[in-house]
Amino acid sequence: MQFDFDMRIDRKHTDCIAADGWKSLFAGQEITLPCPEEQLIPMWIADMSFATPAFILDAIRRRLDRQILGYTRPADSTYFDTFSAWTDLLYGWHWEPEDLFFSNGIVSALNELARLLCGPGDKILFQTPAYGPFLGAVKTCGAEPLFSRLVLQDGVWRTDLEDFARKAADPAVKLCLLCSPHNPTGRVWKREELLAVGQICVDNGLIVVSDEIHCDILRAGMQHIPLVSLFPDYKKIITCMAPSKTFNMAGMQFSNVLIRDPELRSRWSKVRGQVVNPLSLAAATGAYAHGYDWLVAMRRYLDGNYAALQAVLRARLPELTFRIPEGTYLAWIDLRPYLPPDADPVRFFAERAGVLLEAGRMFVDNADGFIRLNLACPRSVMTEAAERICSALGH
Ligand SMILES: Cc1ncc(COP(=O)(O)O)c(C=O)c1O
Repeated sequence: MQFDFDMRIDRKHTDCIAADGWKSLFAGQEITLPCPEEQLIPMWIADMSFATPAFILDAIRRRLDRQILGYTRPADSTYFDTFSAWTDLLYGWHWEPEDLFFSNGIVSALNELARLLCGPGDKILFQTPAYGPFLGAVKTCGAEPLFSRLVLQDGVWRTDLEDFARKAADPAVKLCLLCSPHNPTGRVWKREELLAVGQICVDNGLIVVSDEIHCDILRAGMQHIPLVSLFPDYKKIITCMAPSKTFNMAGMQFSNVLIRDPELRSRWSKVRGQVVNPLSLAAATGAYAHGYDWLVAMRRYLDGNYAALQAVLRARLPELTFRIPEGTYLAWIDLRPYLPPDADPVRFFAERAGVLLEAGRMFVDNADGFIRLNLACPRSVMTEAAERICSALGH
């Protein structure tokens, strides 16, 4: 089956954050664009410029045809059967119907869980560089963040197990937020890596919230392993997955939160019922029921985008050591050999290249000198952005 990932879709005036909300990148700053606003290339917020697949739009249309958008909660096993068939197919992972809860996005789940599980005096451990809302979740509950820095060894980001174990043993640490696959580095953690990190959490009795939102988006030959599948007897691992990144439906704000511990389930149920948006439920069911071929094609297209990006960077910025990440559609690029000292890359590339991207200051800790490019866009757009970035650096 053919899908068109090359098509350029005009997103302006749809209230999308990527194209219509970009000024939030520069709150309070005056910036001077090098081109008319319509020619800016948004490669920042992590949604796709590809069309949301037709089988999802059709599922929403079919649900609209039923005319009433009242209170909705899965009433039979259709959604469970569909999503569990997906996790079985992709991860060989089985879970129970009673594990399944919903949230309006994973950031809401992280905030809710942090508030449920921690408060002032507690610490929450996570690895850095980290996705900004991890710190936001810690702040919402008044706990203290504890960072364990990933280390870059021969171009590969790895856990510093000694550091992680020492910090996990701090009696004030109650919760660990794990990002798997990891945003922004794009690591897809291997079995041994997950076993090592997970065992440290188990040994210290920590609750783990494993944010696996990027799990379906992998390079060829990669395999995602749900952390929880490696620790069948440890109940305190909560898994967050969603169709949002995978199928470009983040605006539907529909995520799965899988909770095995009965005590944690009842605490979650007290603050968040099972009511969902009817269009989101229809979209998510359609996605998991019909999405496999599209996903395979989309992954292949992304592999091509990464190869094209690497070719541009090798030709024009030869001092970079850019490695294609194992997962996500995000390229995490160490630009330190080329960035002017003291430049804020977000502003620098907006003003010099007309490219909107994310960089150091937008992540938590351990991210200076790096930029993050969203490659889920038509190849022609990606190549133009990469060329403009190199030209802005004078190369
Ligand atoms: C690791 C991670 N978690 C959560 C989110 C956002 O989740 P949601 O849109 O479901 O709140 C993102 C988006 O980039 C992410 O990278």
